[in-house]
Amino acid sequence: MEVRNKRMGNIRTAVSHERRDFLKAGVAMAAAPFIAGMASTVLSSEAQAARNNAPGKKILIISASPRANSNSDALCDRFMRGAQASGHHVEKIRLSEQNIDHCTGCLACIHNPGSCVLEDDMAEIHEKMLAADIMVLATPVYFHMMNGRMKVFIDRVCPIYTMIRDKDVYFAVSCAGGSSQVESSVESLRVFTRSFSGVKDKGVMAVTGAWDEGAAKDSPAFEQAYTMGRNA
Ligand SMILES: Cc1cc2nc3c(=O)[nH]c(=O)nc-3n(C[C@H](O)[C@H](O)[C@H](O)COP(=O)(O)O)c2cc1C
Repeated sequence: MEVRNKRMGNIRTAVSHERRDFLKAGVAMAAAPFIAGMASTVLSSEAQAARNNAPGKKILIISASPRANSNSDALCDRFMRGAQASGHHVEKIRLSEQNIDHCTGCLACIHNPGSCVLEDDMAEIHEKMLAADIMVLATPVYFHMMNGRMKVFIDRVCPIYTMIRDKDVYFAVSCAGGSSQVESSVESLRVFTRSFSGVKDKGVMAVTGAWDEGAAKDSPAFEQAYTMGRNA
């Protein structure tokens, strides 16, 4: 089966190490809390804070709303402003502007990790995801969970999901309802991010009670998003 291209060569090499390490993963996961505990005793709390707020991190925002004046996307922009004010490098990808096909379920990526039989914009997004220090996943709430565009995107991360590690992750959602809608939709995103190794869940930005576009700016979440970006 023809698999993706030279550009994925480095990713494929990395993933073969990944597969070799796969059997060790259970042990590593069991040890992770102890290792994390050791690291925090080695670094003083001041040094830890300085490292956490070090400027120049790479931030990748994945924004799934198709609306022009979207609430969840407005939270992304506000977060981006805050992060840029702190000297971070931010890129936002609107999924509605990308060419992303549905996963065909062929399992080529399981047999040949890092590769995908589909040739579209996902190869470039894979590289950006691997390079990012911080990821923001933003979606409108549709039927209590992420929207379809976000789910199609997530399925296409399958070729590299075992290689994604050590990321800080933020979530941004908008809904017409209240906190239960926020929780169920963020939980649907966490199922995805929990499959990464070393992920830190850093915060949720949420606009509630908003059917209409453009409502985010009047929400307390708008300034919270700036502050979260500033402190990322
Ligand atoms: C197909 C569809 C399903 C929706 N389902 C829900 C829902 O289950 N719960 C809810 O609170 N809002 C729901 N909404 C409302 C949107 O979440 C709300 O309009 C939100 O502000 C859209 O975010 P956006 O501006 O970022 O696209 C739904 C909207 C659409 C179009």
